[in-house]
Amino acid sequence: MAKYHWQSQNVKQSGVDDMVLLSKITEDAIVDNLKKRYMDDYIFTYIGPVLISVNPFKQMPYFTDREIEMYQGAAQYENPPHIYALSDNMYRNMMIDAENQCVIISGESGAGKTVAAKYIMGYISKVSGGGSKVQHVKDIILQSNPLLEAFGNAKTVRNNNSSRFGKYFEIQFSRGGEPDGGKISNFLLEKSRVVSQNENERNFHIYYQMIEGANDQQKESLGIMTPDYYCYLNQSGTYKVDGTNDSKDFQETMEAMQVIGIPGDHQTQVLQIVGGILHLGNISFIEAGNYGKVESTDLLAFPAYLLGIDPSRLQDKLTSRKMESKWAGKSESINVTLNQEQATYTRDALAKALYARLFDYLVEAINKAIQKPHEEFSIGVLDIYGFEIFQRNGFEQFCINFVNEKLQQIFIELTLKAEQEEYVQEGIKWTPIEYFNNKIVCDLIENKLNPPGIMSVLDDVCATMHAKGEGADGTLLQKLQAAVGVHEHFNSWNSGFVVHHYAGKVSYDIVGFCERNRDVLFPDLIELMQSSEYTFIRGLFPENLNTDKKSRPTTASSKIKKQANDLVNTLMKCTPHYIRCIKPNETKRPKDWEESRGRHQVEYLGLRENIRVRRAGFAYRRLFNKFLNRYAILTAETWPCWRGPEQQGVLHLLRSVNMDTDQYQMGRSKVFVKNPESLFLLEEMRERKFDTFARIIQKSWRKYIARKKYEQMREEASDILYNSKERRKNSINRNFVGDYLGLEQRPELRQFLAKRERVDFADSVNKFDRRFKSIKRDLILTPKGIYLIGREKVKKGPEKGQIKEVLKRKLEFGSLSGISLSTRQDDFFILHESQYDSLLESNFKTEFLSLLLKRYEEAIKRKLSISFTDRLEFRVKKEGWGGGGSRVVVFQRGQGDVAELKAGGKTLSITVGDGLPKSSSKWNQTTATWQTIGGEPGKNFLPGSLNEEKIMKVYIFYTAYSSPHKQGRPPSTAPPKLGSQRAPRVPAHSQNNQGNLDFLNVPDQGMITPQPQPKGPRCRAIYQYIGQDTDEISFDVNDVFDLIKEDPSGWWTGRVQGKEGLFPGNYVEKI
Ligand SMILES: Nc1ncnc2c1ncn2[C@@H]1O[C@H](COP(=O)(O)OP(=O)(O)O)[C@@H](O)[C@H]1O
Ligand SMILES: [Mg+2]
Repeated sequence: MAKYHWQSQNVKQSGVDDMVLLSKITEDAIVDNLKKRYMDDYIFTYIGPVLISVNPFKQMPYFTDREIEMYQGAAQYENPPHIYALSDNMYRNMMIDAENQCVIISGESGAGKTVAAKYIMGYISKVSGGGSKVQHVKDIILQSNPLLEAFGNAKTVRNNNSSRFGKYFEIQFSRGGEPDGGKISNFLLEKSRVVSQNENERNFHIYYQMIEGANDQQKESLGIMTPDYYCYLNQSGTYKVDGTNDSKDFQETMEAMQVIGIPGDHQTQVLQIVGGILHLGNISFIEAGNYGKVESTDLLAFPAYLLGIDPSRLQDKLTSRKMESKWAGKSESINVTLNQEQATYTRDALAKALYARLFDYLVEAINKAIQKPHEEFSIGVLDIYGFEIFQRNGFEQFCINFVNEKLQQIFIELTLKAEQEEYVQEGIKWTPIEYFNNKIVCDLIENKLNPPGIMSVLDDVCATMHAKGEGADGTLLQKLQAAVGVHEHFNSWNSGFVVHHYAGKVSYDIVGFCERNRDVLFPDLIELMQSSEYTFIRGLFPENLNTDKKSRPTTASSKIKKQANDLVNTLMKCTPHYIRCIKPNETKRPKDWEESRGRHQVEYLGLRENIRVRRAGFAYRRLFNKFLNRYAILTAETWPCWRGPEQQGVLHLLRSVNMDTDQYQMGRSKVFVKNPESLFLLEEMRERKFDTFARIIQKSWRKYIARKKYEQMREEASDILYNSKERRKNSINRNFVGDYLGLEQRPELRQFLAKRERVDFADSVNKFDRRFKSIKRDLILTPKGIYLIGREKVKKGPEKGQIKEVLKRKLEFGSLSGISLSTRQDDFFILHESQYDSLLESNFKTEFLSLLLKRYEEAIKRKLSISFTDRLEFRVKKEGWGGGGSRVVVFQRGQGDVAELKAGGKTLSITVGDGLPKSSSKWNQTTATWQTIGGEPGKNFLPGSLNEEKIMKVYIFYTAYSSPHKQGRPPSTAPPKLGSQRAPRVPAHSQNNQGNLDFLNVPDQGMITPQPQPKGPRCRAIYQYIGQDTDEISFDVNDVFDLIKEDPSGWWTGRVQGKEGLFPGNYVEKI
């Protein structure tokens, strides 16, 4: 029998979700668990907060909007492991703790890092709101992917879309959580690919995209031929990639440039450079008396044309070079002619430089489009090229693997080493757990001295080598042998050296190391490009050749070393999250698990040690003050701030939730909580408090928070009845509230719903039986259906005699066949269902109906039929012997607004006076001015795409944890009219709770004003207010009057000229 996930519905259980829960912690058990889950299509698994992701090589069904909704605001343990859970956690942590977050995605080439990064960006873009400007930033963030992939990714034997550059993408947020900026840092593009590729690999995608996708006119102006025509593309014999549509991708690339705001003429030049490089590659050289000579000068014209340079100058610069020569203390410049090999090398150097600078330009263009003047919060996503081993591994692999080594080091530092050291530091009892620390490998590569690391030796050799550096690679190998020959992670072999990396042994071929490390672009070539007629191209070569000469040029390895260390520093400043990607096979096929590959990765990723440390240790630790901040809301003593020693405050909180004393330990500056479950307890309490809090504010202030949605709903609701039914006088502009039962505090009702099932509508209604006798039912509408809950006396058992809630009826949308109502102003309606119908009466029928219609249409994909007649029929339930059949309800014109009922046999007559005409209704636009206060929160920080509760949460985090400008008044221009759409008073249930919820108020913002009332307080009106109802008072600007009560709903009570009544509190200032 299949087991199902205990928290979520219909989720099959496969292995364990969190490997901390494995009963045996062995490599076998870990591999088995991952394999089992992978085969069951679960690609995600946790080790505590670390997410393991196995590449499925097929589209999984769980990346839809439904999951985005499900993971939003949910605690980790509530749903199956998912990258959305991790993303949500980052986003929420950033907002709550006001800390920058980062996620380090690691794994070998083709393990799924880039796909993971894209899911994270997509999620964040979906759950965060924002106006059109923010939307623009989001578009650019998302569009940057296809653009950079076109220019920076290529097919390798490991991955058809392998990133050949590293990227750290910081998404920056406003204090309200809207992504309003960003920054990309890119790392070492593998530019050698521009001029040569291994067998079965391709050059960067853009070349093939352009060849396939360019239109005729572009083809002509760029001189586009078939790919096999170009030397830079035809060496590997591979032009096509399975599952890739180059032509379509080209359109996407161009579209992305457009979105990012790259001007049209620059777009053209970008393509010209790409084409120019291809044509440059076709210039070949022959040896003519020891000199290199352009084989066919005809081929010079086209690249020269595309790059805007003079062909003969191009020829010159490819075959000769100016050299500084020092002779007897004097320095002079002489022109040296190059041989064939040197000329070829020079050509390739130019091609690589052009491409790399073009790539940097694109990154800069993206950065310019999304940069913001000052950074607030950010989430950084690190997606680099993964660890890779090829048949032949060169300098590029060496650098790539070095960066991966550094990332593994961060992981070890923070999750294994620092964690254990922290226990010791904080004085927590601890038995150390052994693990392999790859710092030794990092040192082997990047040490400056004692012994110098590989990169240092390499730089030394390069500093002394000659122009082309024949023999330098040999020298390098000798020097390496001398410097690190005895290192346990280093060996020499006949054509290079071997490094024993954390992820395996890699043999590097020494050929080309020095040359690629030196990476100098000869001044001749810079000069040549600076002579281009195109400003754009000249802009790519900004060097000042007269002054930039002196300093020793930076080498590629010192650059990557610096970048890697800068990156580590950046990452260390954020709260880190980890995704460890696993590649299950080399076939790129779904459901194919290669045991030895899986095991190898589990081993070198250190998953077993990770679980061990996690298990023995404490799942959660937090600085006292951060802990207090996060859970302050749980008790009155800690809200809004704890007075007294922090440690005591933390203890107070832990005790208030009755946490077992063996579940936590107090360190010197931090509290440590043992099991995630104990933490969940805290989290859940906190969520609940926020929910309550949110609900109260929500009810009072939704008029400006969810303006659009409600305006629309109101209109829709009116539309339903328009011209069909008379309306009650007070019903047309009524605010929709939804939950009139306060379900949050009614576990006895909530029990019938699923754990996180959202309530659209809940109200107490009258239900009529076959004899037209009425009985109270609680009616609840959720996206899953309609619930009717009643009460019964328990007949048996220990609870005998007690009154208990029972689910009387649950109506699935699928079984509903329609709704009927009268044309008069009554509140009756009949739900028609396949078995039998329900006659109900609700004060809020319009609201209920409009929500029901919406939900129905979402679920069933067609409209629910509604009929309006004054003779309604309903079929009653078959019960026992009798029953069945149908009843009739007849509506007649009478007197007054209250319906009179008269039952006779099988007919019920209902008499009621005339209501407003059927055509009344359309939402009156003039009173639809919604109020915004506090610096227009709706505009500035409320993420529009979140549901309201989420909005409120973000809003509360915002108000409670940051210090926005102190505002709590309507904007001074055009004071809003409330019309009759006053916020509903807080429902009874909440009101009962008000006393003990006062501590939830936010004093700073003055939105809810919890201050104790001084004797006889008074206030002065800052805006005119005209009472809209009999229980309201009116006043003029500057009127001073008595303030009797400040209510958290925002509706205060005051006395003006002897009349007591309600008014909106934000229209006055207290004096
Ligand atoms: N979550 C996923 N769902 C479906 N396919 C995936 C997923 N992750 C990776 N893949 C497949 O594997 C390929 C390689 O993934 P990629 O993220 O480019 O690897 P990496 O960046 O680690 O080198 C993708 O092009 C895609 O076909
Ligand atoms: Mg990648």
